[in-house]
Amino acid sequence: KPFTAVIGAMQVEVDLFKLKVHPKRDTVIMGITFTVGKMRTRDVVVVKSGIGKVNSAMTAALLLEHFNPSEVIFTGIAGGIDSTLLPGDIVVGERAAQHDFGQLTTEGITVWQTFDYDETSNPLYFPCDSLLIAKTHEAGEKARIKFIRTYDAKRKPTVNTGTIVTGDVFVASTQFKNRLEKEFKAKAVEMEGGAVAQICYQQGVPFVVIRSISDTADENAAKLYKKFLKVASFNAAHLVSELIFLL
Ligand code: ADE
Repeated sequence: KPFTAVIGAMQVEVDLFKLKVHPKRDTVIMGITFTVGKMRTRDVVVVKSGIGKVNSAMTAALLLEHFNPSEVIFTGIAGGIDSTLLPGDIVVGERAAQHDFGQLTTEGITVWQTFDYDETSNPLYFPCDSLLIAKTHEAGEKARIKFIRTYDAKRKPTVNTGTIVTGDVFVASTQFKNRLEKEFKAKAVEMEGGAVAQICYQQGVPFVVIRSISDTADENAAKLYKKFLKVASFNAAHLVSELIFLL
């Protein structure tokens, strides 16, 4: 039976989504609350992982083991790397990679210079599911009407596809952001997608990460993040619910 899992890192990111799930029932496993219910006719499980790769990897593993979902969607906010992105815009992950995994030298982290490593189960980039990406864009056509606009009242938030990079740091540095763009061709940076992508990839479960931009991952990041956390969380959650209606 089709069963869609939705993970978000923080309470705001998940709560907006949970409002649309009913009836719902909580199951607590190892301190993590999984909410099972229905979104219209679709069976769903929604869970808050907490911030970062360790929390999200643990949540993803428990989710796959205990709930056996047919697909996993990660929803939430991200820092924009691509300079055309504004707060509220969407980046759908085409693939995800860890940006803090590799060899650290004075020059920085060199990716893919590790030792005794199984490249088959641990490629540099974890591809997201192409059908889920296509359906997210289809859902985006409908979702755009209700997206919250930010700086420019005339400009509807855009839905983009690209590489999303993940690491255990909140990026607030122009220099580091530029490196992520150069080395990974990254459009957005966040702290969980790559970890969940890695687990879903290894277990053969279709996965997609859907993020809305909260900040520009530069020196203004913390300030912008505070300002746009709610708007970005809303836009991402809204798109994910439109996607679920199409599944
Ligand atoms: N999530 C939202 N903004 C972010 C940033 N600048 N770095 C990492 N994760 C983020």
